[in-house]
Amino acid sequence: MVTKRKLNKTGKITLAIAILVIIVLPLIFFLTKKYTKNEMHILKVTENYQIKIDYPIIHQKKLDNQIKEYINFEKEKFQNTVNLKIPVGENHKYELVIGYRLIKQVNSNNSIHHHIHFETYTYLGENQYIRSDKTFHYDSKNKKYLSINDYLDGDKSFEKLSVFSYYYAMQYIEEHGLELDESIIKQITTKDFDNYEHFFFKEDGLEILFPLYKISAEHDEVIKIIIPPKEMNQLVKEQYKVKEDEKKKEQIIPEKRDISKYKNKKLIAFTFDDGPSEITTNRLLEELKQHDAKVTFFVLGNRVEANQNTLKKAYQEGHEIGSHTYNHRNLLLLNDYTRIQEIKETNQAIENVIGIKPTLLRPPYGNINEETKKISNMHIIEWGIDTLDWKTKDKELIAKEIVDNAYDGAIILLHDIYESSVDGALLAMEKLEQEGYAFVTISEMAELKNITLDYTTLYRSFN
Ligand code: NI
Repeated sequence: MVTKRKLNKTGKITLAIAILVIIVLPLIFFLTKKYTKNEMHILKVTENYQIKIDYPIIHQKKLDNQIKEYINFEKEKFQNTVNLKIPVGENHKYELVIGYRLIKQVNSNNSIHHHIHFETYTYLGENQYIRSDKTFHYDSKNKKYLSINDYLDGDKSFEKLSVFSYYYAMQYIEEHGLELDESIIKQITTKDFDNYEHFFFKEDGLEILFPLYKISAEHDEVIKIIIPPKEMNQLVKEQYKVKEDEKKKEQIIPEKRDISKYKNKKLIAFTFDDGPSEITTNRLLEELKQHDAKVTFFVLGNRVEANQNTLKKAYQEGHEIGSHTYNHRNLLLLNDYTRIQEIKETNQAIENVIGIKPTLLRPPYGNINEETKKISNMHIIEWGIDTLDWKTKDKELIAKEIVDNAYDGAIILLHDIYESSVDGALLAMEKLEQEGYAFVTISEMAELKNITLDYTTLYRSFN
C-alpha cells in the first residue's frame, strides 16, 4: 500500500513537471516572443516583380487587424495587376514598396496616441509610379481612432490651422523650387477634414502632409509642413499643448578606436541594410562588442526618426552610418526630382539624429546609374558577398555563406531587421575570428587598405 501511494505521488509530480515542460513553458516562450516582436517585413522578388513591405505591430488588436487588412489589400491588388502583365527587364521590374513611420505622442495626461503613416509606391511600367498615403491615428487607452478634430480647440482653431498651413505650404514650394499654382495650395489647405488626414504630433511641432496627387495627376510630390510648437499650441486643446523651449541638439561623439592593430590582419566589412530596428539592431550592437567588431549600417530614411535611439547608439559606439535612401525604391525608375529627394531627405533625417550627414550610399537592389552617381555626391558602396539572408532566414545557412566565401577585403550584405541575419552574422564572426579576420567599417577598411574613396567607383570589395 505504502509503496503504491508513494508511486502515485511521484507520478503526480512527474506529470506536473511534464505538463510544465511540454505545454506551459513553450506557451510562455511563444507569448513573450510574440509580444516582443514589433514589426513585420515582407520581401519578395520574382522574375517580373518585387515587393518590399514593412509594417508595425502595435499590440492593439483593433489597430493591428486594420493595418494587416490594409497591407493585404495593397499586396493583393498589386499581385493581381502584375500577374496579368508581361515581364519587364531585370532592372525595371514591377514594384510595390510600403514603408511606414510610427510616431508615438505622449500627452500631458500620460495617454499615448499612435500615429502610423504608410507610404505606398506601386510601379506598373512606363511612368506609372503611383504613390498613395494612409495614416492611422489611434488612442490606445480608449481604443478608438482619432482625427484632427479630436485635437483642435473648436472651429476657430481649424480656420487658424488652415491659414498656418497655407503659409507653410507656400514656403515649402518656394524652398523646393516647385512650380505650382497658388490656387492648388489654397485648395489642399482649405478647412476640410479630407485635407488633414496625415498629421503627426512630434517634438518639433505639428507635421502635416498634403499629397498633391489628390488634386493633380501631374504631381506625385507631397508637401510636408511643420507648424512649430508656439503656433501649434494656439490650435490644440490644453492636454495636447507642448513645451515651447527649443531643444538643444546634443552632440554625439563617436568612440574612436586604434585601427593600426588590424594592419596585418585579414579584413571584412559586415554591412546591414534596411534598418535600423529597435529590437534586432540593438541586440546586434550588444553582441558585436564581444567580437571587437565595427560594422556599417545602411539605414532607410523613413525608419530613422522612429528608431533614433538605436541609430544614436550605433553611431556612438563607433559603427558607421550610411544611407539606403528614404523609401527603398528602385532609383532607376524615378525622375530626377524624386531621386534627389530620396537621397537628400535621408541625409537630412540622419543628420537630425547623429549630427552629421552620411557620406556612403547603398542604392536599393544595388541599382544606380551614372546620372544619379553624379548628383548624389556620395561614395557608392555595393557588396561582394550576398548572403541572401532575407530569403533563407536560416542562421546556419547565412553563416555558412559568409564563412565559405570570405576573403580579405570583402563587403558582406546582410539585413539587421531579421533575427536570423543577426544570429548568422555573429556565428560567422566566431568562425572567422579563428581564421584571423578582423571586422571593420567601410571607412576603416578604406583607410587600412590605403584607398581614397571617389565618387565614380562602385565599391564591391577592397581586395
Ligand atoms: Ni535593401
